[in-house]
Amino acid sequence: MLSNDGGFISRLIIWLLVVVVAGTAHAARIHLPKNTSVVNGRPSLLSNGLGLTPPMGWNSWNHFGCKIDERLIRATADAMVSSGLAGLGYKYINIDDCWGELNRDSQGHLVPKASTFPSGIKALANYVHRKGLKLGIYSDAGIQTCSKTMPGSLGHEEQDAKTFASWGVDYLKYDNCENTGIGPKERFPKMSKALLNSGRRIFFSLCEWGQEDPATWAPSIGNSWRTTGDIEDNWNRMTNNADQNDNWASHARPGAWNDPDMLEVGNGGMTKEEYRSHFSIWALVKAPLLIGCDVQSIDRATFELLSNKEVIAVNQDKLGIQGRKVKKYGDLEVWAGPLAHKRVAVILWNRGSSPSNITAYWSDIGLQPTTIVDARDLWRHSTQSGVKYQLSAQVESHAVNMYILTPHA
Ligand code: GLA
Repeated sequence: MLSNDGGFISRLIIWLLVVVVAGTAHAARIHLPKNTSVVNGRPSLLSNGLGLTPPMGWNSWNHFGCKIDERLIRATADAMVSSGLAGLGYKYINIDDCWGELNRDSQGHLVPKASTFPSGIKALANYVHRKGLKLGIYSDAGIQTCSKTMPGSLGHEEQDAKTFASWGVDYLKYDNCENTGIGPKERFPKMSKALLNSGRRIFFSLCEWGQEDPATWAPSIGNSWRTTGDIEDNWNRMTNNADQNDNWASHARPGAWNDPDMLEVGNGGMTKEEYRSHFSIWALVKAPLLIGCDVQSIDRATFELLSNKEVIAVNQDKLGIQGRKVKKYGDLEVWAGPLAHKRVAVILWNRGSSPSNITAYWSDIGLQPTTIVDARDLWRHSTQSGVKYQLSAQVESHAVNMYILTPHA
């Protein structure tokens, strides 16, 4: 009698476990295949080892839209090297939408547009690889891309991933238009798996605009995921994207980054201080740093912003922890995040319309109350030694002060 009851109870427990596990898998509704590995305690389909720090490079969309051709891509690669930007880490040369013919060929392959990319993508990849750079390309998890000028990869994931690999592509941005109403959690993992099967390590950048909270499911299938709609070259849009992206800070980690969209620095719609804010915040929150202006004719002010090694080092810090908004006093904000060697990166951001004093208290930025630090100002390139309790500064309208605080031993 007793042993029968025990048998019943253990069967009941097993049944309950099965129900809970099945329920959790169903709730996540993400379609991971059987050979999924586990990375940092989480199931990971995408063990490609890429993006241990956020990707840096250039993308054609923000400045050129569909007006792209192979000459532009080659000239941009040349300019990235000759300007010194490539040497600072900006390695990816990413072609966005509009590089292909409207239709696939008779075997179903994507075809580079003959009028604008006559030499083909493989030739371009060879060109940028010879310069020590990497080539990125764009497709869409739907039946057409957002421009509707070329096919998407929905239903052709394996074939397209193999095509990209055979061309020597290093990065895929994968968009969300014309998706026939199928959910992104079903469409995006297919391409992730196809890229893994392609025989080449390809950085996978998901672009479903933050619609289904990708931070909660994309880390296991992608190296980055958009958390927002498209950025525009204006203050409101840039600040909105920064705020929206901030909601997902805890989900980012090496190999898997939140993406508030590409940089607009240098495109002319914001002031120098607004662009400085844009670049500083993107660096602190470990966003991909993808330049979106015309680097062939980059001006001195834009170059000075994009080439600040101390700010880039915050973005590329090996801890890979996303900095976040830690305090807000109306339009005055403090953003901060930990860096390797017990250092802390801090931004005092004045989003208001007049100059104001902003203070970061140690308790808000994760320092012990008695800690004494040296505060390095990353834009003025000067150091204040022996700072205690708090850091205060007068910050101009729409501007930032950005620091690394190094505790005394
Ligand atoms: C979408 C993406 C953009 C860009 C365009 C191209 O809007 O979010 O970043 O790739 O498509 O058509």
